[in-house]
Amino acid sequence: MDKRNDDLPLKEAIEGGTHTPRQHDSAHKHVAGTADYTDDMMEPIGTLHACLGLSTIACGRILSVDLDPVRTAPGVVGVLTADDVPGLNDVSPTGKGDEPIFPRDRVDFHGQPLFAVVAETRGAARKAAKLAKIDYAEETPVIDVLDAGEDPRLVTDGMTLSRGDSEAAIEGAANRLSGTMRIGGQDHFYLEGQIAFAIPGEDRDMTVWSSTQHPSEVQHMVAQALDVPSNAVTIQVRRMGGAFGGKETQGNLFAVVTAIAARRFRRAVKIRPDRDDDMIATGKRHDFLCDYEVGFDETGRIEGVDFTYVARCGYSADLSGPVTDRALFHCDNAYYYPAVTAVSAPLFTNTVSNTAFRGFGGPQGLVGGERVIEEIAYALGKDTLEVRRANFYGETGSGRDVTPYYQTVEDNILDRITDELEASSDYQARRAEIVEFNRTSRVIKRGIALTPVKFGISFTATHFNQAGALVHVYTDGSVHLNHGGTEMGQGLNTKVAQVVAETFQIDLDHVKITATTTGKVPNTSATAASSGADLNGMAAQAAAETIRQRLMDFASDFYEVPEHQIEFLPNVVRIGNQRVAFAELVQEAYVARVQLSATGFYKTPKIHWDRDAGKGRPFFYFAYGASCSEVAIDTLTGEYHVERTDILHDCGHSLNPALDRGQIEGGFVQGMGWLTTEELWWDDKGRLRTHAPSTYKIPLASDRPKIFNVTLADWSKNREATVRRSKAVGEPPFMLAVSVFEAISHAVASVADYRECPRLDAPATPERVLMAVERLKASARETTENEASHVQS
Ligand code: MTE
Ligand code: MOS
Repeated sequence: MDKRNDDLPLKEAIEGGTHTPRQHDSAHKHVAGTADYTDDMMEPIGTLHACLGLSTIACGRILSVDLDPVRTAPGVVGVLTADDVPGLNDVSPTGKGDEPIFPRDRVDFHGQPLFAVVAETRGAARKAAKLAKIDYAEETPVIDVLDAGEDPRLVTDGMTLSRGDSEAAIEGAANRLSGTMRIGGQDHFYLEGQIAFAIPGEDRDMTVWSSTQHPSEVQHMVAQALDVPSNAVTIQVRRMGGAFGGKETQGNLFAVVTAIAARRFRRAVKIRPDRDDDMIATGKRHDFLCDYEVGFDETGRIEGVDFTYVARCGYSADLSGPVTDRALFHCDNAYYYPAVTAVSAPLFTNTVSNTAFRGFGGPQGLVGGERVIEEIAYALGKDTLEVRRANFYGETGSGRDVTPYYQTVEDNILDRITDELEASSDYQARRAEIVEFNRTSRVIKRGIALTPVKFGISFTATHFNQAGALVHVYTDGSVHLNHGGTEMGQGLNTKVAQVVAETFQIDLDHVKITATTTGKVPNTSATAASSGADLNGMAAQAAAETIRQRLMDFASDFYEVPEHQIEFLPNVVRIGNQRVAFAELVQEAYVARVQLSATGFYKTPKIHWDRDAGKGRPFFYFAYGASCSEVAIDTLTGEYHVERTDILHDCGHSLNPALDRGQIEGGFVQGMGWLTTEELWWDDKGRLRTHAPSTYKIPLASDRPKIFNVTLADWSKNREATVRRSKAVGEPPFMLAVSVFEAISHAVASVADYRECPRLDAPATPERVLMAVERLKASARETTENEASHVQS
């Protein structure tokens, strides 16, 4: 058969392959308002709406519950309490059983959901929820970690990382210092709040549309609450309007409530809490108290260091175990500790159960490590960058390449990243100029800092590092792709589609990714730990390769051409000296009864972790970056601006430089919000008083750095065999914002001639900056007076 087809257009490359800066596949729809979110779905006739009734105290026994006024309110169809749960009354992701859907006997935090009211309209449900009459025997709540006293209760086991004898190393060092730092939490502030929408099916089937990063877990939760097998429950996620870790476990309750109600009333049920309820009733980033003690030499090199990380976890374990573990995994950031002990204490408090948030404890751990560097620099009168460099991990085999968890750092590019950024940001000259400026400027003080990031990529629970995908090629050559990951704005679907398009050598617009569903790809992990593209990209590639190989085998047979003479060119397959359009080959393969659908699977190699021993290789590789920020503070008010930020970030061989840039910019700004203006504040009754944008300040467009230069380290390639040698990018850039925090600190330090570390707590709100300025001015005055009296005597 001769099908030479010289008319087929030959292109150099496909449209939208990997490493090309393609826009997000929904970018236009996001902006135009045509992207479908769960709340945009057409509601079946008779859809009911649920609202949660929240507790009004933080801690105590429930004495009596009178829901009659709720039940008889206008529009109400029914009320759900613990008694109405057909199966297990628990949504704890750990299986510890410490998170009731609705508690029976006691309340453990202010805002804890106690019941749900289901009504004909959302407004009716919200109004009715307020009518409950509940009596409590109130107890004194533990709100802050310090309230826990001498005998604090852990929500889950802490961890210890230890290498060498840190106590002896600190004792023996020429210099020693110790301190404490508070590191605040953070609300996720996703634009689309929590939401779930359940439609009952025949028998005991249930389909739930959920805004979740973890459809498989929601499936399990719904199945166990309804007391049905997993095969009766399907979870669907087209996209989330932001998640940031806040929908890794926090969607469970909402999905389960709609499913129970849908089963009970045999109607579709939706729940969409308003912003205040969402902020009050769902978990946040953990705030930490970090104690440190360090011994170091005259050059600023650390000899031994101890850390204790105490976290406010809230009333249940949720993900507090792995979050506090990850804090310890990042207490070293970019630095080699010859001897180290790091201990975590995940504490029980009568507050909402804290959860995953971009970086998953890593940012808090890293900020503690960076504080130690800052302290050393001010103690020795050195530039913080010089102290950083003195402590960087060395080359592999240098003897300075082992982490506190005994993983060797094999892919260290810290020096190159730092050197390049130092040069491109003109750090040294600007720093000198800033110090000069501060000498004469009375009110406005400027500061600059250059900080690195090293972030470990993989779930630390090894078994989560697996993924599946399902690829169909239809007879017209178009491709339908599903994978277990979820789209939350990060561009995962675009990246995975690029990988598949490239595997088949077809233009990206021939590949369609549809909603994530547990019915197509089962037993998935949460889309989290930044590993969405690493895992699902590989799984999808494997599925596509299986089909490509079948096409290859078929073509070889059919055209009687050896395999090595068959090549997938852009949209065309070259078979010997003939050229066949991809779609045509597919059609021929179909007629010859070749299977054009395949699943793919991937599990991350090389990783292992022994938590009890504190040893292993929890991370497949590290992602690196650095940022340099300059700020100006007003020493009379504490207000500040970020004048300029330069970033150099490592995405390996970037799958999509445009999306990666978006992740870097977005992550940085979100990190900046965390470290500057976003402050969570509970009163002594355990009420969260910052539960709306009126009292909780996320960064505005006008808060971004006035000059913002973001560059990808385009020379970097992952030395591990990740998908197309790329690196994960979702979380690491969040921690680039430490440069803003330290630049503020530098500006504050100027009021006392840089002789004292300002010891700012995070977030460095204008109030905290002002108080730090006043404190430093007072202590500088004292020093001068003392020096003066010495001279006199
Ligand atoms: N980007 C957007 N736009 N929205 C989000 O919710 N979540 C972050 C990050 N970037 C998030 C985001 C978090 S917490 C993680 S873990 C990763 O994206 C998850 O996606 P990935 O693994 O595909 O990078
Ligand atoms: Mo991201 S905190 O791992 O969802």
